[in-house]
Amino acid sequence: MKSVIDIRDLSVGEIEELIGVASDIILHPGRYAHLCEGKKLATLFFEPSTRTRLSFEAAMYELGGQVLSVAGAASSSAAKGESVADTAKVISCYADIIAMRHPKEGAPLVAAMNASIPVINAGDGGHNHPTQTLADLLTIHREKGRFRDLTIGFCGDLKFGRTVHSLITAMERYEGVKFILISPEELKLPSYVKKPLKEKGIPYVQTTDLLSVMPELDILYMTRVQRERFFNEEDYLRLKDSYILTPEKLRTAKADLSILHPLPRVNEISVAIDEDPRACYFKQVLNGKYMRMALILKLLGLEKEVAYEH
Ligand code: CP
Repeated sequence: MKSVIDIRDLSVGEIEELIGVASDIILHPGRYAHLCEGKKLATLFFEPSTRTRLSFEAAMYELGGQVLSVAGAASSSAAKGESVADTAKVISCYADIIAMRHPKEGAPLVAAMNASIPVINAGDGGHNHPTQTLADLLTIHREKGRFRDLTIGFCGDLKFGRTVHSLITAMERYEGVKFILISPEELKLPSYVKKPLKEKGIPYVQTTDLLSVMPELDILYMTRVQRERFFNEEDYLRLKDSYILTPEKLRTAKADLSILHPLPRVNEISVAIDEDPRACYFKQVLNGKYMRMALILKLLGLEKEVAYEH
């Protein structure tokens, strides 16, 4: 029984397999429509979510399975003081797989250590968000056709942006990748995410200036400044509009740049960019559902039920 708490819980080969299954689901959804009949997914979300919770639930329904849902700590016995460990043991009696989001870093790991069914981290505080990374990877694969030899700019809140941490951890495994880290000084990438880059000699630069690096980028990964992680509202208000991507700022960008954003967007990408063919953030949303379908199948041991061509 395997859980996915960190993107490193999936090898490069396993990610390729998930992309293969997701790509086949896109082409032949009917082949997958009954594979999870009789199976239940529990979505335990102790933090707000639109995409992740609903895409997990849509994924399970499209596989023929059923869903049990806790949306918010206030509506569960966590409000009465029940521990994450006990919650995981209890849900294991009702469901076959858990997707958990929690404001505390490490909570899904504690759940996985206590559950008797697979646990998927659906975002833990400012730490990791591996299934958003699966959505990002399928998007990069479909847009670029490769993971190697790419210059990727991450822009915005790199300190608290868990999707950034997970995607860097995934992409550092591919040859020829260079990271450009664009943020205000106060929101730089944490040392624990940079450490493996230094140790493996993976090229990265840190800058506060998006415009100066724009011509280099193959992928621009914009992020929201994470209001909910700030201790001080004044700091949030000062930093929230540090980067607002507008058509004018894309003047020097490559014609085949891919613009990604995990969403929700607040103000950091002008809606005028939505019609630009380089904007990929709504495709990312849909890709997330397909990759979550593939992941559910894998963790339930059902991914080999359909033989597809690689
Ligand atoms: N990208 C993402 O995690 O969105 P939600 O917070 O809406 O789930």
